[in-house]
Amino acid sequence: NIERIAELTEGHAWFQLYHPADNDLRDKILERAAANCQVLVMLSDVPTFGYRSKEIKNGLAMPPRMTFTNILQIIGHPNWAINTLVHGSPSFKVLKPYMPKGMNMHHLGLFMNKTFNGRLDEDKVAAIRDKWKGKLVMKGMSNEIDVEKAIKLGLDGVIVSNHGGRQLDAGPSSIYALKNIATKYGDKIKVMMDSGIRTGPDIARTLAAGAQFAFLGRSFMYGVGALGNDGGEHTISILKRQLQQVMEQICCEKVEDFPQYLIK
Ligand SMILES: Cc1cc2nc3c(=O)[nH]c(=O)nc-3n(C[C@H](O)[C@H](O)[C@H](O)COP(=O)(O)O)c2cc1C
Repeated sequence: NIERIAELTEGHAWFQLYHPADNDLRDKILERAAANCQVLVMLSDVPTFGYRSKEIKNGLAMPPRMTFTNILQIIGHPNWAINTLVHGSPSFKVLKPYMPKGMNMHHLGLFMNKTFNGRLDEDKVAAIRDKWKGKLVMKGMSNEIDVEKAIKLGLDGVIVSNHGGRQLDAGPSSIYALKNIATKYGDKIKVMMDSGIRTGPDIARTLAAGAQFAFLGRSFMYGVGALGNDGGEHTISILKRQLQQVMEQICCEKVEDFPQYLIK
């Protein structure tokens, strides 16, 4: 939960808010976040869920569908199966205090749909800007109109992101959107990016294209999926080594200098 993550990261954690439909719940969560984190990220890249036919076929749902293939996969991964039995399935720890007790997966799915509304508008963002005194970042930008609104609303940063292409497959790639946004607004607001970054050279490209920070999602999940608790550290050590190698190859001393060394 927020408190534990803040403890582990010695106060450096950022909190990401999935906008609650109810303002009372929003305020309760914001209060806890403010006591523990300096940066709040609002998420605008999932206004509604994408139609993912592969996941429907594979039974990835709340609750997960038990197909013959899924059962075979569980049997084929005894370590995972035992760990899941010992520790239980993942849960939404931050939300636990606000959830009715004894919900099964089906009820949890209904609760999440009812409690959150991913659609943001300027009024919702302005209300949060009023309440949140720390740095405020909007994730999910892919066009200049929204970045201009973010600047007008007094936000401190934007994360150019298409949610890893996991919701809408028809938009521009994040690196493409980033180039215009960073060139035009990089001196007015902090511009960061995620989606599709997998390696050190990918991070270098992202920084060269004008981002001041690069985020990765699935690369860390793959690391944790393969190695468990050590997977996060292992992933970051590979990325660090790769990034350093790029810097040595092009004689770039500081990451901020990438735009002078790599083709944008
Ligand atoms: C399984 C999974 C769950 C995610 N859940 C969230 C979420 O709750 N909030 C959020 O802002 N992004 C979420 N994301 C998206 C990531 O924050 C990020 O935008 C995306 O993974 C970046 O692309 P990449 O995976 O190609 O690095 C999720 C991504 C994955 C793969």
